[in-house]
Amino acid sequence: DKGEYRHFMLKEIHEQPRVIQATMEGRLTDSRVLEQSLGTEAGSLLAGIRHVQIIACGTSYHAGMVARYWIEELAGIPCSVEVASEYRYRHHVVQPDTLFLTISQSGETADTLAALRQAKEAGFRAALAVCNVPGSSLVRESDLVIMTQAGPEIGVASTKAFTTQLTALLIFTLALARHNGLDSEKEADIVRALREVPRQVDQVLSLDGRIESLSRAFMDKSHSLFLGRGAMFPVALEGALKLKEISYIHAEAYPAGELKHGPLALVDSEMPVVTVAPNNALMEKLKSNLEEVRARGGELFVFADGQSGLHEEDHVHVMSIPEVHPITAPIVYTVPLQLLSYHVAVLKGTDVDQPRNLAKSVTVE
Ligand code: F6R
Repeated sequence: DKGEYRHFMLKEIHEQPRVIQATMEGRLTDSRVLEQSLGTEAGSLLAGIRHVQIIACGTSYHAGMVARYWIEELAGIPCSVEVASEYRYRHHVVQPDTLFLTISQSGETADTLAALRQAKEAGFRAALAVCNVPGSSLVRESDLVIMTQAGPEIGVASTKAFTTQLTALLIFTLALARHNGLDSEKEADIVRALREVPRQVDQVLSLDGRIESLSRAFMDKSHSLFLGRGAMFPVALEGALKLKEISYIHAEAYPAGELKHGPLALVDSEMPVVTVAPNNALMEKLKSNLEEVRARGGELFVFADGQSGLHEEDHVHVMSIPEVHPITAPIVYTVPLQLLSYHVAVLKGTDVDQPRNLAKSVTVE
């Protein structure tokens, strides 16, 4: 039931404060992660892990890409991420003490399942799944499972599944990091930041009307570019995927630093450029990338916080996002991009909940 909402996708976007909260429920105190809540064997499985291999598809793969930044920064453990359909068909080297981590909303994605089955033969230390469907094949076949609490997701374009995956992955990262020297003060700082996320997402949802106005600029465009740096690069990838899927506008995401290595050649007044830019250490670098776009007549749409020093000018639209902790920023900054693609699709009159050629669960190769 869509209730008061016009589409399931919009309803699911608005459910995010609640389902992110539900995904944290029982897993955190005020200042730490309750490792036991991840499973009684979580402690023994996580101790001694020296490497993490993440496998997923589509949106879930983007969640894995964000998690890599967290795992390497907080746990100091090398982490590789790969799409399942590539990983399963190539020769790969399994390093000792590697945790095999799959991420899947449905738990039935054929390539992800096949990769897991292969991994079990290949000498991984343990298989952990982050999944949204209890009793799914992925859940049944993994050693340890962290359930997201997104509830059923009906819209084909994944929204709340992604932000709850990120929530679960950050909780997992903190548990893993504690085995690897993360100090309790830093853990408490991030746990507090995580507890703020539902409220911050709620604030972003209140920008809906302004984002809807911005969306008009995309209606008659055929191409768009999404930029981000660091952990915001996968957020840009996810924003571009959403726009492609439901509005059928070609959208490409690039790490902002790659602009001048090619894609800048495409930028003109017909190419809207979307940037996700929390006020982090990479802000100054990002600003010079934005200047490169502006100098070529590109129309810029920047999602940034008030401290960024970016302001509205000709061909630069700035949408102010609440100040967020750099670690949790990928969760919060995903939401305005979901709203943007939703409104573009509604304006274009596409079938938002059932985009052409796509299925909710890809159980065939
Ligand atoms: C995009 C989307 C897909 C899925 C992908 C993996 O909006 O929904 O890219 O993320 O098919 O599906 P799961 O997570 O069920 O393995």
